[in-house]
Amino acid sequence: MLTRRQLAIGSAAMTSAGIIGRWAAEARATHFNTPLPIPRLVDAAKQGNAVSLKVAAGRHAFVHGKPASTYGYSAPVLGPVIRMRRGDEIEMTVENALDTATTVHWHGLLVPGESDGGPQQLIRPGDRWRPVLNIDQPAATLWFHPHPHHDTARQIYMGLTGMIIVDDGTDVRLGLPRTFGIDDLPLILQDRSIASDGSIEYGADGLAVVYGARGDTVIVNGVITPVAKVPAGLVRLRLLNAANAQNFVLRFSDQRIVHVIASDGGFLPAAVPVTQLTISPAERFEVLVDFANGKAVALETGPDEVMGIFGRLAPDGSSDYVPVMRFETTTKPALVKEMPRRLVELPPASQGLAIRRRQFVVNSGICMNRTQAGEHADMVALTGINGQTFDMERIDVETNLGTSEVWEVISVGLAHPFHIHGALFRILSIAGTPPPPHLAGWKDVVLVEDRAELLVAFNQPATRAHPFMYHCHILEHEEAGLMGQYVCA
Ligand code: C2O
Ligand code: CU
Repeated sequence: MLTRRQLAIGSAAMTSAGIIGRWAAEARATHFNTPLPIPRLVDAAKQGNAVSLKVAAGRHAFVHGKPASTYGYSAPVLGPVIRMRRGDEIEMTVENALDTATTVHWHGLLVPGESDGGPQQLIRPGDRWRPVLNIDQPAATLWFHPHPHHDTARQIYMGLTGMIIVDDGTDVRLGLPRTFGIDDLPLILQDRSIASDGSIEYGADGLAVVYGARGDTVIVNGVITPVAKVPAGLVRLRLLNAANAQNFVLRFSDQRIVHVIASDGGFLPAAVPVTQLTISPAERFEVLVDFANGKAVALETGPDEVMGIFGRLAPDGSSDYVPVMRFETTTKPALVKEMPRRLVELPPASQGLAIRRRQFVVNSGICMNRTQAGEHADMVALTGINGQTFDMERIDVETNLGTSEVWEVISVGLAHPFHIHGALFRILSIAGTPPPPHLAGWKDVVLVEDRAELLVAFNQPATRAHPFMYHCHILEHEEAGLMGQYVCA
């Protein structure tokens, strides 16, 4: 039985020749012969807590022998992993060597609005931006990416994504896998449309405005179906969904149990066993995977259920899972074999802490069931949060520093991954029920299919000149105006 949403998606999608044809044409053989690239680690403390990034165009071959034009942070594509220690003050220098303006937003980092790198903080070509970042939050996997209004989606698609690791000593205290690139691996998951000449195809056409840009090819750290060699013990994967719109539904091909130890904002109280894990755009999870049996295994992604029958990446349109990458074990001894039972203390998330309640209706307009591509203009007019599209000149919400509020988010049209800058939250309810344990910790983005109640803690200041954003992290939805701004004083 098709739900109303699936019918709406179906009728719109079928009128566009693109979506079905492109996936059906895509029968790439899986080779797993490219080693997983590990981004360069920049350990801020080891270089006097001064870190420089150069945003520039580059060349990178997704398809062997067919280099594509890309963007990167001090790299041809993607960027370094920056390790920052809690308590440190980091002097960042960002140089823009692109021929277009950009910003750098530290997604998940708790810093004041003026250092947050939102759309107000433009770095023009040839200019430098030098924010000082005071790191004061629990250990977590964060990331950074551009945020210029109307060019965020394209710039990220071209390759601008880097990772941040905040370290507060918990890794050592708990004895977790922490040897970067060996048993502690960053996995940046994305999908891309890659043309036959190897170039990146980014077209924010009508369909992409509705569903977000979705590609036919999954890439990990910039490579199609790579292979990682890992010790035959416990390995920590820092999963980041840096896709523009695609939800990944991850599992291992042998359906082994893996343990989720952290979500966006830090560690969970205890490891949560799962066999399948949905990760929506901008979300992070850290998982521990046991490779002690020495067997090679593939990581796979399944149909994006929120897209209904059109969420399937499999070439023949079946509901099959498609391979993302492969793991093989080495003969090197495992560094970590045991998983800690308890991780960290989490305060209870109680409604009673909130001083106020607000509602956000996030509407991408597609429930209108339009069938003509030519009518997309109407849809965009319906798009917005609480009936308003993004306006850089308008402050939508005023919050008070040091307080908490309940934000109720209601999705209309599609499941929206809702993100709030400058704050962490706890999910109080999702689709009317308490969150599953792996979603019960600190978060900064949540996939809202129906509705969710969030307890948001506001502890960073933001002025009218440099407000914080909240928005749908389907980047084409963000660009179409599913974004608002708040101040905090
Ligand atoms: Cu990933 Cu407005 O952020
Ligand atoms: Cu959205």
